[in-house]
Amino acid sequence: MPTALVTGPTAGIGAAFARRLAKDGYHLVLVARDAERLNALAQELGDAEVIVADLSDPQQRRPVVERLQDEQRPVHLLVNNAGIGGQGDFWATPFEKLHRQLELNVTAVMELTHAVLPGMKQRGAGGVINVASVAGLTPGRGSTYTASKSWVAALSEGLANGLRGTGVRVQALCPGYTHTEFHARAGMDMAWAPELLWLDADFVVDSSLKDLQRDVVVSIPSLRYKAVVTASRLVPRSLTRFVAARLGSRSRP
Ligand SMILES: NC(=O)c1ccc[n+]([C@@H]2O[C@H](COP(=O)([O-])OP(=O)(O)OC[C@H]3O[C@@H](n4cnc5c(N)ncnc54)[C@H](OP(=O)(O)O)[C@@H]3O)[C@@H](O)[C@H]2O)c1
Repeated sequence: MPTALVTGPTAGIGAAFARRLAKDGYHLVLVARDAERLNALAQELGDAEVIVADLSDPQQRRPVVERLQDEQRPVHLLVNNAGIGGQGDFWATPFEKLHRQLELNVTAVMELTHAVLPGMKQRGAGGVINVASVAGLTPGRGSTYTASKSWVAALSEGLANGLRGTGVRVQALCPGYTHTEFHARAGMDMAWAPELLWLDADFVVDSSLKDLQRDVVVSIPSLRYKAVVTASRLVPRSLTRFVAARLGSRSRP
């Protein structure tokens, strides 16, 4: 039975990944902070393993890294999903808060990916799905979130190139607005956003896994958001910056 390690499976896109991968026959390793929700999900999924860890804390990442490096119990699919947005201007946000976001959205993704790849490469098989965002493919407004997701997308594309022909696949999953706990946790008021902009977490996961099968490196769920990203690449960067600044004044992840 293949094993998948999913970070942030207690809500949203991560929960949808965990349930779908369990249905697909994976043994799950579930990593997040909320022990109660993790244990309830593990029970629901059968024999899933649980690691309670705040991934923004380097010390707490150690057991996760060790689990990923344990070649007696290889991990075949890593889903780096845990991530947070934010609210408020960069210049007015305490540095500590920005640093915690960087540790979670960037450093944890780098460290976990670095831990799992040598074994996968040696076995000549495996997959890493890094959850970035459409926000990482377009300019933001005073935003460390956008920068963190650009980093994740760039890392994933670079690794996919470097690993070509090894049997190991790396994907940057770039969803648009998705119904989860993400915006409420970040304190964002999304009342302005029309339903047309919203995706469903199960749909995002299904698109990602289909794209992984087809070896699509940058997975953008839905035609709507594929069109947004394509259009943003066709027009001058100054125009996408202008649009981002106007949208950003309403929602600033
Ligand atoms: N929702 C969107 O519109 C959207 C769009 C594009 C990309 N994304 C990306 O999708 C990913 C999943 O987000 P989501 O929308 O599903 O958000 P969500 O519903 O808020 O879920 C976030 C998950 O991350 C975990 N998490 C948060 N901080 C953590 C920490 N310090 N250590 C360990 N786990 C932590 C949470 O679990 P605990 O609280 O139990 O720790 C939770 O399971 C994120 O990377 C996000 O940036 C979301």
